[in-house]
Amino acid sequence: MPTTEDFRIKTLGECQVDSPLDYPECLYVSDDTGIRYVTEISNETEAGAEEGISFQKAGPRRKIFFEPADAKAAIVTCGGISPGLNDVIRSLVMQLYYKYGVQNILGIRYGYKGLNPANWLEPMKLRPEDVERIHEMGGTLLGSSRGHEEGEVMVNTLEKLGINILFCIGGDGTLRGAHMIAEEVERRGLAISIIGIPKTIDNDIGYVAKTFGFDTAVSEARQALQCAHIEARGAQNGIGLVKVMGRDSGFIAANATLANLDVNFTLIPEVPFDLYGKGGFLDILEQRIKKRQHAVIVVAEGAGQEFFAENAGKDASGNVLHKDIGIFLRDEITTYFKGKNIPLTLKYIDPSYMIRSVSANASDSIFCAHLGRQAVHATMAGKTDMIVGRWHDEFTHVPIPVSTSSRKKISPEGFLWLSVLESTGQPVSMKSVA
Ligand code: F6P
Repeated sequence: MPTTEDFRIKTLGECQVDSPLDYPECLYVSDDTGIRYVTEISNETEAGAEEGISFQKAGPRRKIFFEPADAKAAIVTCGGISPGLNDVIRSLVMQLYYKYGVQNILGIRYGYKGLNPANWLEPMKLRPEDVERIHEMGGTLLGSSRGHEEGEVMVNTLEKLGINILFCIGGDGTLRGAHMIAEEVERRGLAISIIGIPKTIDNDIGYVAKTFGFDTAVSEARQALQCAHIEARGAQNGIGLVKVMGRDSGFIAANATLANLDVNFTLIPEVPFDLYGKGGFLDILEQRIKKRQHAVIVVAEGAGQEFFAENAGKDASGNVLHKDIGIFLRDEITTYFKGKNIPLTLKYIDPSYMIRSVSANASDSIFCAHLGRQAVHATMAGKTDMIVGRWHDEFTHVPIPVSTSSRKKISPEGFLWLSVLESTGQPVSMKSVA
């Protein structure tokens, strides 16, 4: 557990400029306002409670660091795409331009690649008219990529372009890259603010209650589960098997289960299961099929990786690539039922990339617009090496090293997983009993 000191937000220097926002005094937030990490009273002895750990509260500051006329901002989107990326870009541009009067805004092309001149990717100018309709489309206007370039090379580019504000939108790999940039900026004694906006449909960023795109991903996964249920009901001994994303955390699978309510088995990385033996997954599935003649299964891509002898290497962001658990389960289920002479109709659905390429739903659009605005307030006040987070319904500032220090996962002992068990009716454990 990080300490109080770890939660301190870095700043580029003293804020001496009056904010151009013409707001009543009550709307400005002071740097001393915190959002408690732990609220539950019975948890007072838990890690984090004793020290009274809190996040700095996000929001507009009365005094800011940058003279708007001197500010030059850039936005970079990295990693896999996610619903809402364009909403965040739009929100950043509109807030910078109309609220703070920052007119120099660049879009870096194809992730951190665009910060290495060797890749010949000219940044694009971003004006309100360039972004006003982009929230209606999925993906990212700027393009994206995995991995990052050398810190020195990226900071050289920022210096050359005269950029003193950089927004890095991405998951934990991107945020580690952003931290590397912030460290290099500090080493050179430069006044460049590096602000991260956490993005991943997997919702697995630490110390952040929800990441953008997740809500939309759950809505889309729910549709796939509805289709799987209809297919399963349409045949005697029908099985609908759906694989969704979730490399290390099963939030999409769990929440789509709760949204859909027809799922009988939810398989996630956090809860290991056995395939064979009494009480193992296939045994329980057989019982279900004999009783009800159909079943719906949702599996997160990171589930059951222990069934494979080795993983599939790493991607450019350093993430361990998983073997395809969906195809594996499809084949194992088919073979198992064949061996038992039980006729089966299994329909396998993999909507992974369809889920993340759509435009944001209403809830994510609202969320993304807030994130963009809060990120601009933070950067104009000279904050750096931090992300904008969400905690107890408030927007927060979280130091990047804290946000990347642990991955958020579903607790098998927590409320969410209990709800999944109650909704599906699957046993608490699908470990075989010898
Ligand atoms: O953003 C994270 C994620 O949704 C993971 O669940 C998944 O493994 C990954 O993206 C896949 O993205 P790509 O195929 O672009 O590497």
